[in-house]
Amino acid sequence: MPDLSDVTRGRLLYGGDYNPEQWPEEVWPEDVRLMKEAGVNSVTLGVFSWSKLEPRPGERDFGWLDRLMDLMHDSGVGVVLATPTASPPPWMGHLHPDTLPRDAEGRTEWWGGRQHFSHSSAVYRRYAAAITEDLAARYAGHPALTLWHINNEYCTYDFGDEAAARFRSWLRHRYGTLDALNTAWGTAFWSQGYGDWAEVLPPRHAHYLKNPTQVLDFKRFTSDMLLECYTAERDIVRRHTPHLPVTTNFMPLWAGQDAWRWAEEEDVVSVDLYPDPRDPLGAQSGALVQDMTRSQARGPWMLMEQAAGAVNWRRVNRPKPRGLNRLWSLQAVARGADAVCYFQWRQSRQGAEKFHSGMVGHAGEQGRTYQEVKRLGADLARIAPHVSGGRITADVAVLHDWHSWWAGDQEARPSHEVDYPRVLSAWHRALWQAGLTTDFAHPGHDLSGYRLVVVPQLYLLTDAAVDSLLAYVRGGGTLVCGFLTGVADQDDRVRPGGMDARLRELFGIRTLHEWWPLEPGETADCEGGLRGTLWSEELEPDGTADETVPYEGGELDGLPAVLRKGRAWYVSTLPEPEALRALLTRVATGAGVRPALDGLPDGVEAVRRGDLLFLLNHDREPVTVDVPGTHHDLLTEATVTDRITLGRYGAAVLKP
Ligand code: GAL
Repeated sequence: MPDLSDVTRGRLLYGGDYNPEQWPEEVWPEDVRLMKEAGVNSVTLGVFSWSKLEPRPGERDFGWLDRLMDLMHDSGVGVVLATPTASPPPWMGHLHPDTLPRDAEGRTEWWGGRQHFSHSSAVYRRYAAAITEDLAARYAGHPALTLWHINNEYCTYDFGDEAAARFRSWLRHRYGTLDALNTAWGTAFWSQGYGDWAEVLPPRHAHYLKNPTQVLDFKRFTSDMLLECYTAERDIVRRHTPHLPVTTNFMPLWAGQDAWRWAEEEDVVSVDLYPDPRDPLGAQSGALVQDMTRSQARGPWMLMEQAAGAVNWRRVNRPKPRGLNRLWSLQAVARGADAVCYFQWRQSRQGAEKFHSGMVGHAGEQGRTYQEVKRLGADLARIAPHVSGGRITADVAVLHDWHSWWAGDQEARPSHEVDYPRVLSAWHRALWQAGLTTDFAHPGHDLSGYRLVVVPQLYLLTDAAVDSLLAYVRGGGTLVCGFLTGVADQDDRVRPGGMDARLRELFGIRTLHEWWPLEPGETADCEGGLRGTLWSEELEPDGTADETVPYEGGELDGLPAVLRKGRAWYVSTLPEPEALRALLTRVATGAGVRPALDGLPDGVEAVRRGDLLFLLNHDREPVTVDVPGTHHDLLTEATVTDRITLGRYGAAVLKP
C-alpha cells in the first residue's frame, strides 16, 4: 500500500489548502512566486469546488482545474487533490431536498453554509460517486497529483427518514433480532419495547431523557455511515490510481468519528489542529492531538490544516504572536508530522472565512504572517533530510476509546462537571509536563510494548478490553486507572457492583459503595497533601492492596482515594495538576520510564524523533537548557556543547 513516504520522498511537505477559484486568474502567477519564495511544495486543491466543477447536474467544468494542475506541476508544487463532496452545490438540495440532513428537532440544514449533506442519502452518494469518478479519471495520470484528500472533516449527523431507514438496517445487522435489540437497549424501562422494526427511530427530540443505548448506537451508526461515504470515494480513486495514497482530514479529538476505526481505512492519517494562541496550555492541547494522530498513523502523519495567524470562530480571535507559528509547527514535526500545512494559502476577501488568517494575509507579502511563513519554510527545508520518516518511541500509552466517550457523555449522569476530553487532557498534561513521551492506544491494541499504560477514564469497557488490561498487568506492565473506569459493558449496562469485578480485584477493592462527585472548586483532601478535584469515591478495600492514600476529613475520611496492588493503580479522584504530575512521575520512574531529557525547565518541551532531540521553549522568556554532550543544531548550524539558550518561543533540533 502506498503511504506518506511516497509523497514526501525525504522532504517535509509544506503548504496548505489553495482555493484559487476565489481569485481572478491574474493572481495565480503571483501565488506561485510567493509559494516558491516560501518553500511551499504541496497544495490541496478543490476541497470546496463542487459547484464550480459541476455547475448544473451532470455538467462538468474542469478547464480551470486543468490549468491549475498544470501550473502547479510547472512550478514544482505537488497537488493533494480533494473530492469536493463536503459542500454540494445549491442545485442538489433544490432538486433533491432528501439530500439535506435533519437535526434531532427535525429542522433541515439548508445550503448556504457547507456540509449540508445527508450521509444516508442515496442521491447524494450517487452524485458524490459520479464527480469522484470523473475527477479521478481525468487526473489519474497528471504528474502534479500526489495524494487524494476525500471530502473534508466528516462531521455531520442526520436524524431524517432516510437515515432512520439506514439506522434500522445497521441495527438489524448488529443485533439480528428485535429481541436482541430490546435486550441491549434495556427497553423494559419506560415501556420502550419495540414490536416492529418500523418503530425504531434515531434518537429524535423527545419529551424527557432518551434511551442511552439508542443514543450510543446512533453515534456508532453515524460514524459508520460517514465511513461508508469515505470508503466509497476512496475505492473509486484507488481504482484509478492504486499507486497513490488516500487520506481524509480528521478534526482533533472530534466526538463524531471513531478515528481508530477510520485510520485503518486510510493510507495517510491527517488532522486539522487549531490550538488557541491565548491558551497557556495551547502547546499541550496541540501535543495531545499530535500524539493521538501519530498513534493512529502508527508512524509519520500529516498536519493537514493549521492557522498561520488568527481563526475566525472563537469569541475573540487573536493572531499567533511572533514566533508561535514556527514553534507549534516544529512541535508537530517533533511529534511525528511529515507535513506542515495550513488552511489556507491566501486569506479570502469574501465569504464566511474572510477574517480567518491565511499564509498570505490581507497585509500581503510584507505582512508579518507571510514573512514568518517564509522563514518557517526555510527551517523545514533545512531539517527535512534528517527528520522525514523518522520514528518516535514512547514507553507510555494513554488509552482512549470513542465508544466509551459516547456512552459516558450522556444526559442523566452522576455529574455533568465530568467532561471526558478535559479528564483525558488533564492526564496527558501531567505526562507532557513530566517530559514523558506518550502514545495513545485503544484498549484492544497490543499494549505489551509499553512500560506504563494510563487509563484516564474508560467508562465503558468490553469484556475483551478488561481481558486486555488484565493480561497487560499479568505480563509485567504497570497500569494506572482513573475514576469511572469499567463501569459499563458494551451496551452501556452498568456492571454488577458498579465496576467490573475483575478490575476491582485487580486494584484491591471489595465494594464500591457510592460515587461522590464534587462541585467546581470543591476538593477532596487526601493524606500527604494530595488534593482531589471533580470526583471522589466511597471505596471499601479488600485488604490486598500494597499501598493506599486515604481521603482525609469529610464524609470519606480514612477510605482509600488511591490504591496500588502490585503494578496496578486506581485513582478514585482527579488529583490537582501538580499532584497528578508527581504521582505519574513516581509511577513512571518505578516502571523504568525516562523523560526525553532530564532536568527540563518548566515550559520547555523535549521530544526525541529518530536520533534527533527537539527542544521547544513555550515561554516568551529565554531559557537555558542542559544538554550534556556535543550536538549540532540543525536550525542554526551551530555546535552546541552541554547547554543551549532558547529565545522567546525558540526551538532547537539537535543531532548528536
Ligand atoms: C477547518 C476546515 C477548513 C476551515 C478551517 C477554519 O475545520 O476544514 O475548511 O474552515 O477549519 O479554521
